[in-house]
Amino acid sequence: MRQIRTVLLSGIVLGLAQSALAQGDMAAEAKAHNITVAYSEDGRYFTEDDIPTYNVAEDGTVDWQTYSGFRRYHSECHVCHGPDGEGSSYAPALKNSAVNMDYYDFVDVVVNGREHVSASETSVMPAFGTNRNVMCYLNDIYVYLKARGTDAVPRGRPAKKEGKSDAIREEENACMG
Ligand code: HEC
Repeated sequence: MRQIRTVLLSGIVLGLAQSALAQGDMAAEAKAHNITVAYSEDGRYFTEDDIPTYNVAEDGTVDWQTYSGFRRYHSECHVCHGPDGEGSSYAPALKNSAVNMDYYDFVDVVVNGREHVSASETSVMPAFGTNRNVMCYLNDIYVYLKARGTDAVPRGRPAKKEGKSDAIREEENACMG
């Protein structure tokens, strides 16, 4: 009797372990799907779902957007979110947010801001929707943070970068007005 129970029990445990594993695999697959480059266009890189992503060559050369994102992040976001997307006591580590959040949710928070009020503290993410220094470079910032969150780029300024394409230059000029 005891033997039967043990066999049953281990069967259940094994089943649970397998489904946990399968869920882990699915999460890992979804993550990879949100990172992997499917195509590039004028020096910008995209996933299969047309979501901006980074590209780091074997010799460490980063795409232009990742480099630009490093600079923009450190002029607009790091005072609250900490250097290199690492987070601070005041605001979350965006290197993780960029990997775990849906792209459109990430953009929504930056455009509209967010406020979290509790009995002990109020934390405010300002709305940047009308700030061109952020909005014109939001994909750059997002892509840079995704590269940080997957450790594709180390902390600090990327040493080698691709050139800026004409299309990116033209789009920036049009956006900045
Ligand atoms: C004045 C401080 C401040 C600045 C500057 C700031 N943030 Fe935030 N941000 C916050 C706080 C605080 C939160 C957490 C809000 C909450 O608790 O809901 C937050 C949350 C976020 C979130 C949601 C993260 C998550 O995991 O849910 C995103 C995305 C974000 N910020 C992006 C940015 C970007 C991009 C910039 C630069 C353009 C930026 N923030 C600049 C304070 C700031």
